[in-house]
Amino acid sequence: MQKNGYLDYKEIIAEKVGTVLVETGLEKEALYALIEYPPDEKLGDLALPCFQLSKLLKKAPNVIAQELAGQIDPTPYFAAVKATGPYLNFFLAPEFLVKTVLEKIVTDGANYGSRTIGGGQNIVIDFSAPNIAKPFHVGHLCSTVIGNALYKIFEFLGYNCIGINHLGDWGTQFGKLITAYKKWGSAEAVEKGLIKELMHLYVKFHTEAEQDPSLEDEAREWFWKIENGDEEALALWRWFKEISLEEFQRVYDLLEISFDSMAGESFYNDKIDAVIEELKAKQLLEESEGAAIVNLDDYGMPPCLILKKDGSTLYATRDIAAALYRKKTYQFVKALYVTGAAQSLHFKQWFKVVELMGYEWAKDLVHVPFGLVSLKGEKLSTRKGRVVLLEDLLKTAIEKTLAIINEKNPGLLQKEEVAQMVGVGAVVFGALSVNRIKDVTFSWEEALNFEGETGPYLQYTHARACSILRKAGLTPGADITFVPDKLNEPAALRVVKMLYLFPEKVLSAANEYEPSIISRYLIELAHSFNGFYHECQVLVDDRDLQQARLVLVWAVKTVLATGLGLLGIKAPEQM
Ligand code: ARG
Repeated sequence: MQKNGYLDYKEIIAEKVGTVLVETGLEKEALYALIEYPPDEKLGDLALPCFQLSKLLKKAPNVIAQELAGQIDPTPYFAAVKATGPYLNFFLAPEFLVKTVLEKIVTDGANYGSRTIGGGQNIVIDFSAPNIAKPFHVGHLCSTVIGNALYKIFEFLGYNCIGINHLGDWGTQFGKLITAYKKWGSAEAVEKGLIKELMHLYVKFHTEAEQDPSLEDEAREWFWKIENGDEEALALWRWFKEISLEEFQRVYDLLEISFDSMAGESFYNDKIDAVIEELKAKQLLEESEGAAIVNLDDYGMPPCLILKKDGSTLYATRDIAAALYRKKTYQFVKALYVTGAAQSLHFKQWFKVVELMGYEWAKDLVHVPFGLVSLKGEKLSTRKGRVVLLEDLLKTAIEKTLAIINEKNPGLLQKEEVAQMVGVGAVVFGALSVNRIKDVTFSWEEALNFEGETGPYLQYTHARACSILRKAGLTPGADITFVPDKLNEPAALRVVKMLYLFPEKVLSAANEYEPSIISRYLIELAHSFNGFYHECQVLVDDRDLQQARLVLVWAVKTVLATGLGLLGIKAPEQM
């Protein structure tokens, strides 16, 4: 009855109802998919809407609900099974719920919610991928933190993830940069200003090129030189890359994010020719105004550009080469690409090209898009130089957090470390808190509000749970036995129901490539816990009652820490 060792009420219901309806031949999976959580808990904890069964059974939905209610044995899982109109409603038996869920968390600890369904298969996650010589700005924040969260979530489900930072270290922009450097730059200025100076040169190129389009030709020429092994061009390119990587690394250090491969776009240079040959051999390549393209008219898309007039490669060319290489190298069951939604067409196009090349695994390529990030409503653009560097943003977050700690809890030990965990956590949570396709507006007041729906609120709730446990002397590894029916107040049961949901939420987050399912869940869990804490004193005279409540606190602390960990956020024990 317990798939993957987790209590699964939907499965129990599907089993019970399926048995009653066995003659109809209805699949249990089909029933499972119909079961929902009613919006109002007064209606029950789970419900089976009977509309869809109506056709099959040739009866009105309320009649079906009524009949089923009389035929289902609720024990030991349910306190009651009742029909309300067309719904068959299930009310959980508290003692069974409490005992099963809390014992499981106590036994599994930090592994509660994990699964082995991945069976060690490989998933490649292409994320972060900032561009060399361009600033690591908040636009890349989403890719970085969503990709990192997906990495952790899939590992938690038993997959082996390969995180690839497909650095933007190739392309016409380097031609532009070299042109600008040659015209208006100097070694001293670059040594001194680093990325900011490179960015300044890049912006200058664009403003100047508006007046003087010949600059664009010069830039193309420089890029052509890079692609054709010109030493001067390559040396400048390498230098710009080094400067950028050092700066990027500081951001990754702050976020504590690392990659299994840093193979950027340039890595595929020597793999391009083979791709072109293959496209030719498969008769997919067409000439169009001197350029080489794959025509996608039949699929309602503009053509995928493979080679420019001068033979230089494009973003898509390098992506196709990278995909072929990754399939060969990692035998992935899925390859995820985490980028802004603006690139959706790009991915659709080249995924189609891979499919047309005859690779059935094209179906395993998944674009995971996200919306725009803005800061107080301002749209960020590199070309115009209106950017906020991620490093500055993170550092400001840490400083502001330290100021808050100094005000609220000046005696805290290791203040700096905690400020880093909380400040960074605030930014990361800010980027993961809403459905990824929605645009995010980052605001300091919101992100650092310890009482709002924020990372610090979750961390604070976790720290509060830790402090209760410390006071009670319940240390990790202590014998945790308890009397389940002591936890019978509605506030406590609400928390246990939330804890029950965690494994299911992790699974949905993976299936939908949506870390915000976990973020939203953690907020609800924290709300329910704070409600409980408000209503029920934990440290009381009744030893059994205290012990049961402590176990509940311990379980919440554990799940909060695991959930935050999956999002790439630290959970300090004190703050
Ligand atoms: N460097 C690109 C950008 O900043 C993102 C690269 C995403 N990955 C890929 N394989 N195309 O927009």
